[in-house]
Amino acid sequence: GLPARVRIHEVGARDGLQNEKATVATAVKAEFVRRLAGTGLSTIEATSFVHPKWVPQLADAEDLYAAVADLPVSLPVLVPNERGLDRALALGARRVAVFASATESFARANLNRTVDESLAMFEPVVRRAKAEGVHVRGYLSMCFGDPWEGAVPVPQVVRVCRALLDMGCDELSLGDTIGVATPGHVTALLGALDGADVPVAALGVHFHDTYGQALSNTLAALQRGVTTVDASAGGLGGCPYAKSATGNLATEDLVWMLRGLGIDTGVDLDRLVATSVWMAAHLGRPSPSRTVRALSHQ
Ligand code: HMG
Ligand code: MG
Repeated sequence: GLPARVRIHEVGARDGLQNEKATVATAVKAEFVRRLAGTGLSTIEATSFVHPKWVPQLADAEDLYAAVADLPVSLPVLVPNERGLDRALALGARRVAVFASATESFARANLNRTVDESLAMFEPVVRRAKAEGVHVRGYLSMCFGDPWEGAVPVPQVVRVCRALLDMGCDELSLGDTIGVATPGHVTALLGALDGADVPVAALGVHFHDTYGQALSNTLAALQRGVTTVDASAGGLGGCPYAKSATGNLATEDLVWMLRGLGIDTGVDLDRLVATSVWMAAHLGRPSPSRTVRALSHQ
């Protein structure tokens, strides 16, 4: 069966923008987040408190967060280490996310650490966040394929998922960073996680749409009981430290499918499309989302 309701974790302002070459003005990002909140999205990942040299586009994290903190929605932020957590807590953030990798190659490229060194880096972040009553998401990248290592063995993914949960993460997000997963692989991974006593209620899925599989993969995950789905308005995005990563599953494409299935998301699709069209004008290119194109005159 399928769930009655799905919570969309909107990542457009973070994953969507982090790879943009031209600097997007802080005021435009803040207006983007504000418009997203106006569509009914309840969880809007705002920015990352990472090293500004690593992700220059998000170097304005403090200013951006301060500009949207009043919105009546959850505004999770990425924090790789204690320095990032300090910055987020100083602004009153109530939801943070650490981001691990299932592969050594990407842990090195994205975090300058081995997998186990990165877990050691996250441990005090999660402990301190939990002590402050802050909700912690644990992202896990490269759950399916890795640009350097190829197909990623399921047990390798299960091990890091377990470590993140045992550390105290409240939820996990299974990342197909480069968009190579197919539905059978998704079903196999979710089955293996179930076998390792990872509760499906703690799992979200995070698909990039490189090979056009993101919606099919999402449907496979919903059929296995997942109810949290990451998506990016207009299909913006890509990871600067993973070659061949393209945009995330477009939120509009997701809402269109869920609406057709009778699954409630609380999102106003027309307003969302209008927001992505507005953002596309700022970025100077049309949205790659099929649903945005179908419902607008881009
Ligand atoms: P490092 O060079 O090993 O850092 O980078 P370090 O710990 O050695 O510190 C070096 C200097 O950086 C120090 O300054 C620190 O204070 C400073 P110094 O003492 O030399 O003057 N520093 C910081 N400054 C500001 N904020 C911070 C911070 N941390 C250290 N938080 C580090 C390690 C983790 C910092 C770096 O690798 C990094 O920032 N990586 C972030 C990469 C990133 O953001 N990638 C994109 C997000 S992940 C993603 O997109 C995937 C996802 O969408 C899921 C999926 O699709 O799979 C989530
Ligand atoms: Mg991503």
